[in-house]
Amino acid sequence: MDQIRIVGGEALNGAIPISGAKNAALPLMIASLLTDETLQLHNVPRLADVALLLRILGNHGVDHGVAGKRPGQTPTTGQSIRLRARDIIDTTAPYELVSKMRASFWVIAPLLARMGEARVSLPGGCAIGTRPVDLLLMALERLGADIEIDGGYAVARAPKGLRGGDIVFPKVTVGGTHTALMAAVLARGTTVIENAAREPEVVDLADCLNAMGARISGAGSARIVVDGVSRLGGAEHTVLPDRIETGTYAMAVAMTGGDVLLSGARPDLLQAALDTLEQAGAEITATNEGIRVVRNGHGISAVDVTTEPFPGFPTDLQAQFMALMTKARGTSRIRETIFENRFMHVQELARLGARIRLDGDLAYVEGVRRLTGAPVMATDLRASVSLVIAALAADGETTVNRVYHLDRGFEALEHKLGQCGARIERISQS
Ligand code: UD1
Repeated sequence: MDQIRIVGGEALNGAIPISGAKNAALPLMIASLLTDETLQLHNVPRLADVALLLRILGNHGVDHGVAGKRPGQTPTTGQSIRLRARDIIDTTAPYELVSKMRASFWVIAPLLARMGEARVSLPGGCAIGTRPVDLLLMALERLGADIEIDGGYAVARAPKGLRGGDIVFPKVTVGGTHTALMAAVLARGTTVIENAAREPEVVDLADCLNAMGARISGAGSARIVVDGVSRLGGAEHTVLPDRIETGTYAMAVAMTGGDVLLSGARPDLLQAALDTLEQAGAEITATNEGIRVVRNGHGISAVDVTTEPFPGFPTDLQAQFMALMTKARGTSRIRETIFENRFMHVQELARLGARIRLDGDLAYVEGVRRLTGAPVMATDLRASVSLVIAALAADGETTVNRVYHLDRGFEALEHKLGQCGARIERISQS
C-alpha cells in the first residue's frame, strides 16, 4: 500500500487546477444506464471510484471508451468518457462490487426504470455511520415499485413500468434525490419530489438528464417536478468543478499561508465554506479564472461551524476545516449534523498534537501553536485529506498510511500540492 510523506512548513504559492466533481461524475455515469444511446461525459476526474464504477457499469452491459491524452494535456486534465448501454445484460449488482463503493447502489433506479427489475446488494457497513438506504427504497416504492429484501439484496420490481407519484423526503438525502430523479424520468406521469437535496451535483444530474430528453424542473430547489417521458437519448455533458476539492485546497492555503489560484473553481458552489474561511482570516477573491486564496502574515482565528445540507457548510469539508482549526487562535466548536461517527480523524489529528474534545455531535478544537509530524492512518476519504492539511503545517515529517482513501476522491493530490511548493511525495510500496 502506498504512503504519502509530507515535510511541513512550506507556504503554498501558485495555481491548482480544480478537477471535475467526483460526486457529480458518479451519478452522471450511472445515468448512462437509462438510454441505449451514447452519453459522452467531459471533465471526468481520474479517480479510483470512477474506475470502479466503470467496472460495475460494465457488468450491466455498459461499454465505455476513454479518449486518449492529447498533446498539451497535463496529469490533471479531466478525461472524456463515452458510455453506451445498448443492451442491459444483467440487472444484478453484486455484493463484491457495491460494498466497495456505496454510490453504486444508485444503479437500482435506472435499472428498474428501464428494465422493470433490479437486484442490488445492500451496501453494508460504512466507516462514517450507518448510512441506510431506506429513503431510496421509499422513493422507488412511491413510484410503484415492489421492493423486498432477499439474501442481502434489495430486489425491486415494476413489471408494468413505474408511474409518477409524490415523494416527500423526511430528511434531505443526496442519494435519495439522485435515485428519485433517475427513476422518475422514465415513469408514466408526473412526479413531485419534496424536500429534495439542493446540492449542485443534483442540478448537474438534472441538467444532463434534460439534455438526454428528460423533463425536469426545479432542480436546485427543494421541490423538483419531473414529467416522465417514454425514452431518453444520448447527450454530451461536462461535469461541474469539484466544490469539495476546491474547499480542501482553500483550507490548505489558509493553513500554510501563501497565495494560490484555484483555477476553474466556482465560488457559488461553496459560498458558505468560503465565508467561513474569510471569517477565519483568509482573503478570498473570485476572478475570471477561478478563486484566489491568500493568507499572509496574520494567523487564523477560531470560527464555529455546523454542517448542513447545501447551501450550508458541507459535511465533506468538516474534517478539513477541523484540521485548519487545530492551529487557530482560540477554540472552535464544530458540529456535525449529517453523519454520526464522522469524527474519526480526531484521533489521528491528536497524534500530530491537536487538542480536540468530543461531546456527541460536537467537537471542541482548541488551537495550538505547533503541530508535529507523525505517522498517521487515513480512515476515510475526507478524513485522510484533513491529515494532509495538518501535516502541511506541522513541524517535521508526517507519513499518511492507507492512502487508497485519498485516491478514491482526490485527483493527483501530491502533484497539485507539490507544484505549489509543498514538500510531499508518494512512496509506492508495490
Ligand atoms: C452524498 C455524497 C457524500 C456526502 C453526502 C452528504 C456522493 C457520492 N456522496 O452521500 O460525499 O457526504 O451526500 O452531503 O455524492 N439517509 C437515511 N436514509 C437513506 C439515505 C440517507 O437515513 O435512505 C441519511 C444518511 O444516513 C445521512 C443523511 O441521510 O445521515 C444524508 O445522506 P445522503 O445525503 O443520502 O448521503 P449520500 O447520498 O450517501
